[in-house]
Amino acid sequence: MSALPTAVQPPEDVESDDCLLSYNYLYSPTLLQGRVAFITGGGSGIGFRIAEIFMRHGCDTVIVSRNLQRVTQAAEKLRAATGRHCLALNADVRQPQTLIDAVEESLKTFSRIDILVNNAAGNFLCPASNLSFNAFKSVLDIDTMGTFNASKILFERYFRDHGGVILNITATLSYKGSVLQVHAGSAKAAIDAMTKHLAVEWGPSKVRVNSLAPGPIVGTEGMRRLGGAAAEAMGFWNTIPLQRPGNKTEMAHGALFLASPLGSYVTGTTLVMDGGSWMTSPNHFATTLGTPPSPHL
Ligand code: NAP
Ligand code: COA
Repeated sequence: MSALPTAVQPPEDVESDDCLLSYNYLYSPTLLQGRVAFITGGGSGIGFRIAEIFMRHGCDTVIVSRNLQRVTQAAEKLRAATGRHCLALNADVRQPQTLIDAVEESLKTFSRIDILVNNAAGNFLCPASNLSFNAFKSVLDIDTMGTFNASKILFERYFRDHGGVILNITATLSYKGSVLQVHAGSAKAAIDAMTKHLAVEWGPSKVRVNSLAPGPIVGTEGMRRLGGAAAEAMGFWNTIPLQRPGNKTEMAHGALFLASPLGSYVTGTTLVMDGGSWMTSPNHFATTLGTPPSPHL
């Protein structure tokens, strides 16, 4: 790794859905000791790394997604690397009953849930005019409805009586109106609004609610789907103030700040972790990739 000044030096990361080969603690290793986090989409990408970094700081985790095999394999890796407990469960965030079952199972296992990370999402590049009604709805169902479903269920089953932290993973897509992203941008903007509504309504119940909005993050499905390879080839990173994409460990460190006592007086806000990208990078970049084929043609 090049010798960048420490202020912009990224921590080590691994691009695949595997645990870090080594980890240099920046915060106290006991920051989340005794806590339990419920992470949707925790079997891959940013959610997987959030699970790992939380576990390295003493947290036990529950990771849920539609693909039980994926979360089961991820949980094995996470347990082996961190020595903490990780429960892998099947749930589709669009189906409240599957989330209720997963939360009940988690409470049976751990007797508590302190942190909810709403990370599950779906996305692809598509011009608005080629999006079917169901395509737009599918992304809003996963991202926006899924975030509401999990938040409401955790609040009613545990946070209302014990307090808690909700962390929503959103995006900067709507800030300047990125092309080919009306579905995801609308879905994430709605989540940022939800963050503020719930922070205000649930603050008196000692529940903090925040969003974390990543920029382009290497080693993720999001990056692969949204033109990451072309961005690299075309010098897109030079349009970012910090001149590079982010990595998953950086996102997990932001999540750790917001979910832990470090963020004890932070609620109703969105932490943008994008190297300044949304302010300077072109929001029509994806058109240079050509219009993606519609599954409806
Ligand atoms: P990813 O690996 O594809 O993560 C998405 C996860 O969500 C998958 O593990 C997937 O697992 C799960 N999921 C999808 N639909 C689900 C459903 N209906 N119910 C339950 N789980 C579901 O992608 P990522 O790039 O790491 O993205 C993680 C988060 O970061 C997302 O919220 C994304 O919008 C946000 N983000 C990413 C970037 C980036 O550069 N990567 C930039 C901005 C924001 P299953 O398929 O097994 O269900
Ligand atoms: N372009 C345009 N429309 C698309 C599309 C694409 N690339 N991929 C799917 N769609 C449409 C489908 O055609 C369908 O619409 P239709 O019923 O009118 O034909 C609708 O979206 C739902 O697709 P389906 O495959 O049935 O949904 P799903 O619930 O199985 O999967 C997705 C949801 C589409 C979001 C899928 O890509 C997914 O599971 N993604 C999770 C991982 C991910 O996106 N990670 C990146 C996060 S940033």
